[in-house]
Amino acid sequence: MSTAPITNIATIGQHVGEAVTLRGWLYNMRSSGKLLFPTFRDGSGTIQGIVPKAAVSEELFEALKNLTLESSVVVTGKVAAHPKQPDTFEIQVEDVTITQRVSDETPYPIQLKEAGVDFLMEHRHLWLRTPRQSAILRVRATIQRAAAEFFDTRDFVRTDPPILTPNACEGTSELFEMKYFDDDMAYLTQSGQLYIEATALALGKVYSFGPTFRAEKSKTRRHLTEFWMIEPEVAYLDLDGLMELAEGFLTHIVTRVLEAHRNDLKVIGKDVEKLEAVVAPGHFPRLSYDEAHQMLVDAHAKGLIENAHTYGDDFGSPDETYISNQFDKPVMVHRYPAEVKAFYMQPDPKDPTKALCVDVLAPEGYGEIIGGSQRVDSYDLLKSRIEAHNLPMEAFQWYLDLRKYGSVPHSGFGMGIERCVAWVCGLEHVRETIPFPRTLNRIYP
Ligand code: 4AD
Ligand code: MG
Repeated sequence: MSTAPITNIATIGQHVGEAVTLRGWLYNMRSSGKLLFPTFRDGSGTIQGIVPKAAVSEELFEALKNLTLESSVVVTGKVAAHPKQPDTFEIQVEDVTITQRVSDETPYPIQLKEAGVDFLMEHRHLWLRTPRQSAILRVRATIQRAAAEFFDTRDFVRTDPPILTPNACEGTSELFEMKYFDDDMAYLTQSGQLYIEATALALGKVYSFGPTFRAEKSKTRRHLTEFWMIEPEVAYLDLDGLMELAEGFLTHIVTRVLEAHRNDLKVIGKDVEKLEAVVAPGHFPRLSYDEAHQMLVDAHAKGLIENAHTYGDDFGSPDETYISNQFDKPVMVHRYPAEVKAFYMQPDPKDPTKALCVDVLAPEGYGEIIGGSQRVDSYDLLKSRIEAHNLPMEAFQWYLDLRKYGSVPHSGFGMGIERCVAWVCGLEHVRETIPFPRTLNRIYP
């Protein structure tokens, strides 16, 4: 065994001219007569190896030449800078130990040529190994870290809400239900919001970050049945303050991704300039629902969009796409008709038919990535809302208590991590943003 220090591919550029050891897998193999060009991957990246026939034993050369894809290998060799491409390195292979050779009888099922999405989803446990999928997961991890860091460094306290809950938060038709021992039913949480309203009134500024569930029968590019949501909730914060918070939050996330993932974004194929525009000086545009509606009416009159938007309706995804395409930065649409929004949203005192809420639409047609609002703070109004929405009053007693004991204006929002990753990485579909996506028709692997 060689004594060359173990390193990883991401940082191999610090070892040019030195011998190193890599521990990983065979990703690809090309050969031309007396030269082999294996590509290795180790989870942090990929690197091309060069094996001249004369450099290794005949036995090893033959073993490498016939090595099957995704066999696990420990490789030693000297690091060299690529003669033409900057920031690209090669390894001049001196020795390889094969940890496990993939059998010729069961070759690695994902070949480098394009495979169909269904096939890839069925082999998600292996698909994750391809450079693009690994790059997406690295960006996801940074987005999660940056999102938590934003709140952690601003005196928010992370408070974890329950996952098993006795009632709905976001509409009763999208609940996963289960039996809770003998007599009760429990539901998987759709959002931690109601609980972090309680912790916000205890601690001032809080956030939650965890899995959430929606039994949505929608088969769209944007919907998962299980996704991760980060939700801040702040006492004494109004809608304007909430929009400022959302703007700072998204700016921080994109800044962190640009700092750490230019290479990954290149592998993924995202146009980095689009992200640079998001963090460039200047505010995110703010549009009222009425203004956004007017924009759609005008676009329809000019033949730019097919469907006329009906005043009072929520925006459909082509509407959101059109609106967001008018701006380089995420756009904040506020004050929707209360009727199309959740029961807990505070009415606008200037026009009570509107809710003090905001949806943040990501650029490039990615649609809503953040939804939030100021919350109803009056006991009587909240009670009548619960009644009007036919929600079970007993289950909401504790939530009503929050309006009885020192109620204050308070606001919060939720961002689905997967929607954010899809936008930041420029992905067609949210299913690539999470290691094992759960959708209407898939729960395997
Ligand atoms: O707009 P939503 O439903 O808002 C709430 O749940 C509030 N209780 C949040 C709050 O105010 N604390 O969901 C918030 C975000 C959406 O903007 C979207 O990013 C994501 O959660 N989301 C989904 N992501 C993937 N698949 C789904 N089915 C999603 N539903 C919502
Ligand atoms: Mg929403």
